[in-house]
Amino acid sequence: MSMQHASTQAPADVAARTAMVVDEHGALEGPLLPILHGIQEEFGYVPVEALPVIADKLNLSRAEVHGVATFYHDYRKHPAGRHVLKLCQAEACQSMGSDQVAAMVKSALGVGFHETAADGSVTLEPVYCLGLCACAPAAMLDGAVIGRIDADVVDEIVAGVRS
Ligand code: FES
Repeated sequence: MSMQHASTQAPADVAARTAMVVDEHGALEGPLLPILHGIQEEFGYVPVEALPVIADKLNLSRAEVHGVATFYHDYRKHPAGRHVLKLCQAEACQSMGSDQVAAMVKSALGVGFHETAADGSVTLEPVYCLGLCACAPAAMLDGAVIGRIDADVVDEIVAGVRS
């Protein structure tokens, strides 16, 4: 089990692509969150090298930008794995056993929340309501929702992300 720590982007490339994303959203009121969202779409995560570029262009302190980027768990600090599995941990799913589902998934994949498997196969993230409460416990794998997760479904998910 380990996180991927190496940035795969050249700093100059990050700066240029970050500036482009900031320019796209800079005219919005309260542009920081949309910009961070755009950066994550651009790179798949928010590279640490992007933060000073955003701060300079928005005339904010680097600490402010860093604080916002690290406050929201939605913004990844490292590249995601080939698959992204989000397990719902909100109330309805909690009441239907999402804790046990999370424990099964973590142990089967050898990762915790906000971690990526050492082989780069999957990133595991918690999510707080997918709008699928009637089919709790629920998850989202690469953007597709999965409901009524039990041990069999966990096995299928694990086999799927490893194939
Ligand atoms: S609480 Fe899990 S989908 Fe709504």
